[in-house]
Amino acid sequence: MTEDVHLKVVLNAYPEGMPKPSDFRIEENPVPEPGEGEVLIRTMYIGLEPRIRLMMNPTSDDNKAMRPHGAMTDIGKVIPGTVLGVIVKTKNEKYRVGDVVEGFLGWQNYVVTDGEPHPSNNPEGLAICDIEIADAVDYIGPLGAPGLTAILALKHEGKLEEEETMVITSAAGMVGSLVGQLGLLCDAWVVGVTSTDEKCAYLKDQLDFDVVINYKTTEDLGAAIQQACPDGVDYFFDNTGGEMAETIKTQLSKNGRVTRCGIVANYNKKGWNQSEQFAGQFTVHDHVPEYKEARKTMADLVKDEAIRYELKVFDGLESAPEAFIGLLSGQNIGKWVIKVS
Ligand SMILES: NC(=O)c1ccc[n+]([C@@H]2O[C@H](COP(=O)([O-])OP(=O)(O)OC[C@H]3O[C@@H](n4cnc5c(N)ncnc54)[C@H](OP(=O)(O)O)[C@@H]3O)[C@@H](O)[C@H]2O)c1
Repeated sequence: MTEDVHLKVVLNAYPEGMPKPSDFRIEENPVPEPGEGEVLIRTMYIGLEPRIRLMMNPTSDDNKAMRPHGAMTDIGKVIPGTVLGVIVKTKNEKYRVGDVVEGFLGWQNYVVTDGEPHPSNNPEGLAICDIEIADAVDYIGPLGAPGLTAILALKHEGKLEEEETMVITSAAGMVGSLVGQLGLLCDAWVVGVTSTDEKCAYLKDQLDFDVVINYKTTEDLGAAIQQACPDGVDYFFDNTGGEMAETIKTQLSKNGRVTRCGIVANYNKKGWNQSEQFAGQFTVHDHVPEYKEARKTMADLVKDEAIRYELKVFDGLESAPEAFIGLLSGQNIGKWVIKVS
């Protein structure tokens, strides 16, 4: 890949169900120049997130109220996504050449932006990463949206107390594995639900989860949760929604709390009234004023190895579509990122 062309992954076709590689295509253009008030960023990493799948749908009755959340891209437009990059040109006095920055800017090797917040998907705007406190790549993991979601949902909704029980779906994913470790730090009893024995072993052996459940091989998930939490589930951190979540909710204790974090079980489906299902969901973007402090806490926990995470790096922008399909197919443990330059 040459550095002096602007490469971007664009939507080639609206996916039907699970996306296919042919739903994406790569476009090549001259590197753009920043205008007044703008910066040019050279992308280092792109973070892959399941919610991008929702943004690849056309506007329809079941997502139109979510727009622009529901349909962020369109045929020929760049696939949205988190960019971690470095400023290479600036005509905006808030940013200097060499600043490492993070923003929700799309799958491309260069990007021009004015850095301003966008209320629906990037309410913080372009964040300057303090690389004194953490590695740059941590800003799309524990110090990025996944880590901020984990720590701020726990603070505002979980409010875990010692010895309370916590159940997490998609527990080996980035948000799930982080929130589980934060639960363990609160001395809670942490139960992870996930789809493979390899993921279960990771959670149990490497992250010290108290109980792990493989929902694909467990015949009766409700009974398995009851066995793991005989007095009920005090806090359910739900990353998936769907039938699995409904089963787990039957086991809530009297003071049970639920964080509705994600509905990944539905992301490839049609006709599930996104507006209704997302209403009242925890949204990390509602807590921007707390990001700075939360990032510092997460940075300290990572530095002290009180929190660990898996990072898989794919090489080159062209690897993004297949990696994204792998993420939606449940292949990832922790965070998957694309190394662009
Ligand atoms: N509310 C917020 O502010 C906020 C912010 C960030 C992220 N989120 C949401 O949080 C959730 C976790 O995010 P993440 O980035 O850490 O991603 P993630 O959990 O790593 O997402 C991929 C995982 O989702 C699970 N999955 C995929 N298809 C599934 C299906 N049909 N049914 C059940 N599980 C399925 C698989 O795990 P298993 O192998 O365990 O099935 C897969 O490995 C996502 O739903 C995301 O949209 C919400």
